[in-house]
Amino acid sequence: MVDVVLIPLHDGRRVLLRDIEPEDAPLLVRAHSITSDEALQARFLSAKPRLSSGEVHYLTHVDRLDHVALVAVEVDRPEAIVAVGRWIRDRGRPDAAEAAFIVADDYQGVGLGSALAIALADRAVARGVRVLQGSMYTDNRGSVALFARMGGELTVVNEGITNEVRTTLPSATDRLERLVVRRRLRPGHDRPRRDRLRRVPRRRRQPHPQVGAVAA
Ligand SMILES: CC(C)(COP(=O)(O)OP(=O)(O)OC[C@H]1O[C@@H](n2cnc3c(N)ncnc32)[C@H](O)[C@@H]1OP(=O)(O)O)[C@@H](O)C(=O)NCCC(=O)NCCS
Repeated sequence: MVDVVLIPLHDGRRVLLRDIEPEDAPLLVRAHSITSDEALQARFLSAKPRLSSGEVHYLTHVDRLDHVALVAVEVDRPEAIVAVGRWIRDRGRPDAAEAAFIVADDYQGVGLGSALAIALADRAVARGVRVLQGSMYTDNRGSVALFARMGGELTVVNEGITNEVRTTLPSATDRLERLVVRRRLRPGHDRPRRDRLRRVPRRRRQPHPQVGAVAA
């Protein structure tokens, strides 16, 4: 089954987000060929005017377990790939993966990279990856912002002309615990317990959800 998500962008356009398929190879080659040299240089950290057939095969034949890649396509032109994001699990450290993104020039700055980053982080947590890292030029603030969007703890280490950016993702249990804490902090939740109980008819009181039970 193909899992497709409709993403509304800040400028009113909408795109479809889905896993990459082997059949996307010609679409990826086409998208690459019309992307600016600057964007390609930022993504690959070297000049990359074209992809070799081996690279195209590698980038489109992913197992969705150790190598996850998502593409965004235009709603009315599903043959037009406008963004790609991926992570590849580190062989020496299975809970870590290298992530990279590229958004077509005329789709940058409207939230597409952020949507990709969040979707990739979700898949990472689901597959046991807790650390996502990436290399980028030091002036690439947009890319650092994407790693920040993933919701984890961010560290940036300078390595000359590049930065190594790393985020440690919260587990599903951590996220649930944060949700429970936020609920407790909502206005009204700091009223004395006796006062709160008086306002709820006894027969309608429900047991509180157990975080541990949900995670089990
Ligand atoms: C980096 C990149 C993927 C970001 O994607 P995007 O779709 O433009 O990102 P978004 O629109 O979701 O913006 C995310 C954040 O980055 C910021 N941002 C985006 N481009 C930026 C830029 N050029 N300079 C500064 N900030 C930028 C946005 O302001 C936003 O932050 P905000 O929501 O707090 O305002 C995209 O610019 C790109 O493809 N660049 C070329 C390839 C590349 O650099 N890849 C990363 C290598 S890992």
